[in-house]
Amino acid sequence: MSLVKIEAHDVRNIEYAALEPSPRLNFVVGPNASGKTSLLEAVYVLGRGRSFRTSQISQLIRFGQNELMVTGKVVKDAWPVIPVGVRITRGEREIHLGGRKTQSSAELISAFPVLVIQPSSSQLLEGAPKYRRQFLDWGVFHFEESYLECWRRYVRALGQRNALLREKRLNDIELWNREVARYGTIMNGARDRYAQRLKPFFLRSAAHFFEGFEFEFHLQSGWRKNKTLEAALQEDVASDVRLGYTQSGPHKADFSISLGGRPARAYLSRGQMKLLVYSLLLAQSLLMEESADVSACVLIDDVASELDEDNKNKLLGFLRECRTQFFITATADRVIRDAVDDDAAVFHVEHGQVMQA
Ligand SMILES: Nc1ncnc2c1ncn2[C@@H]1O[C@H](COP(=O)(O)OP(=O)(O)O)[C@@H](O)[C@H]1O
Ligand SMILES: [Mg+2]
Repeated sequence: MSLVKIEAHDVRNIEYAALEPSPRLNFVVGPNASGKTSLLEAVYVLGRGRSFRTSQISQLIRFGQNELMVTGKVVKDAWPVIPVGVRITRGEREIHLGGRKTQSSAELISAFPVLVIQPSSSQLLEGAPKYRRQFLDWGVFHFEESYLECWRRYVRALGQRNALLREKRLNDIELWNREVARYGTIMNGARDRYAQRLKPFFLRSAAHFFEGFEFEFHLQSGWRKNKTLEAALQEDVASDVRLGYTQSGPHKADFSISLGGRPARAYLSRGQMKLLVYSLLLAQSLLMEESADVSACVLIDDVASELDEDNKNKLLGFLRECRTQFFITATADRVIRDAVDDDAAVFHVEHGQVMQA
């Protein structure tokens, strides 16, 4: 799958840009504050309906304008071209997919899966567990169509159970234990299947950056081992009432990476942790690439500032071997020079103007 055309109107300092990207490597080169990250944001908006820099999407609208618009054409193997568009005004978002309007960002996310690797991506391993759950859920969502609905039902059931706990209305608690357990167990099963699929790809991508390291990937369900979720919920009722929330369930899930049984965080330098994050995110896209009809478009912001020369070259060498579509920003041509081949496209950005080299 790849984006074969994109047009951005009034996205940050970009008044208008039209690109015909390569299905493989696309380099976005320009000085600081020229609009490189803004261009990546435009691509991201097309796949997620939101930004990776801010939760306030209206911040992306170019100063002095009332709306922004990004449109594009997505090609999946044997499928006809899918036109995709997102229009954002202050307070409203319109998604256009295949010639019709939709409210569902889930549909957009399936039509054009996009992943971003940026400086703050290190929170995937160093931040709160919610980042790791989001990472898993995005992956699962692309493999199991029913996952989103199951997740929604879980969230609803959990909300009901938490309300009963807070109000100390325990007559119906059994019923909600069952509901939470029902959807929670399905969610955990789906995450577990995804983690199993992801593992070999993670080990493969990590092997590009780390020699002689044997990483282990562990998924934690979010409740006590060797117990069903329903049993854990039943046991927890008294202490859940005291706390006013549900302690067990996939909303508490997490995963960890270890080395010889010890947490990777305790052993790796910050730079190495970043490479580990790259390995995880690239594994996600490699896994998609290998599965029949989905593959992600991967945005990598500021490669050079993130990695030393040696690791940057390893990364670019690795990306060249992938069949995934990448958008990679850099502040100077020399950063990417060795990675530009015949299949690659280079875009220069200056004062919000994007020119194809
Ligand atoms: N809503 C906006 N309208 C116009 N310009 C903006 C807006 N938001 C940010 N900018 C400006 O856009 C410029 C480009 O930002 P950015 O894409 O982050 O640059 P780069 O990634 O190339 O360093 C910056 O000068 C920034 O101040
Ligand atoms: Mg930037």
